[in-house]
Amino acid sequence: MIQVQNVDIGKGSFQKGIEDIYKSYDLKSVFWIVDSAVKNKIKRFVKTKNIIFLEIRHEPSTDQVDDLVKFIKKNKYKIKCLGIIGGGSVIDLGKAVSVMLTNKGYAKDYQGWEIPKKKGIKKIIFPSLAGTGAEATRSAVLNSEEKKQGINSIFCLPDRVYLDSFLINSVPKEIEFYTGMDCYIHSIESLNGSFGNKLTKQYASSAKSLCENYFLNSSENKEDLLTASFLAGTAIMNSEVGVTHVLSYGLSFLFGVPHGKANAIIFSKLKEVYGEPVDTFTKMLKKNSIKLPENLARDMSEKDFLKMYEIGKKMENPLRHIFGNNWISKFSEDFALDIYKRI
Ligand SMILES: [Fe+2]
Repeated sequence: MIQVQNVDIGKGSFQKGIEDIYKSYDLKSVFWIVDSAVKNKIKRFVKTKNIIFLEIRHEPSTDQVDDLVKFIKKNKYKIKCLGIIGGGSVIDLGKAVSVMLTNKGYAKDYQGWEIPKKKGIKKIIFPSLAGTGAEATRSAVLNSEEKKQGINSIFCLPDRVYLDSFLINSVPKEIEFYTGMDCYIHSIESLNGSFGNKLTKQYASSAKSLCENYFLNSSENKEDLLTASFLAGTAIMNSEVGVTHVLSYGLSFLFGVPHGKANAIIFSKLKEVYGEPVDTFTKMLKKNSIKLPENLARDMSEKDFLKMYEIGKKMENPLRHIFGNNWISKFSEDFALDIYKRI
């Protein structure tokens, strides 16, 4: 079982994290990668010139990683530690940058499994959005010209994570919902399949309950969301995701639908695979007054459907997890296209 070794949670852990970093590193050897959405919130705590604020409009790309690496290497002082404050996209960028600062070449050459040979520099994560699980996993999911795939490496695993609701308490409701649903779907997909173990099942079950409590009972406890995100992220890292993620990757890659929203759209059509949780998901939509986009398929061609299917077919591990060794016959073109045509 792989998991992040050092995790702090609770009020004040954001400030504690900054103090911890500067106890181990001098000001000049730390570089901060920060989501511009929390710029005003954090600027009085993180006082340094070694900082870049990123405005996230699209899912992160390998080119963005390469540009950031170039930018950080221009620094007069050797950077030894990254402080990363953001949602899944910023965290994935930061994790990839940490590895590409020590490994030669371009980020696109590292999309795959365990390709980096050298450990990245230290990366300390402060999520400002709860649900993606990026703070818990060894994957940095990136788009390149050809594909959407992670740099999946033990060297991408965060060195330390600080979970503080202060950073997520002003996330807009719809973004919070879709990111929370990414987490909910992680828990369902981890639980439903042959991979994983007793621990992943427990982690995923807890994450599922926390999400349901938050989105159905209006618990408003944002620490629950941070906890769920971390637990479900750890669970999928040690088991797998499933067919929702497989089908949603094409939707994000071809049409730029954000990850959480793409998953929600696909999951709503997967009652036959995942059963009751899809009904619970529908209740959560209603309770939170969220309306899923409809009739997306109307503007897609047969060629688009097939391209998305081909993208999904490459994700063998999640398909094996949910459908078993005979996945190829179950994940047929008919099966995938039927779902795409109903979105
Ligand atoms: Fe996800």
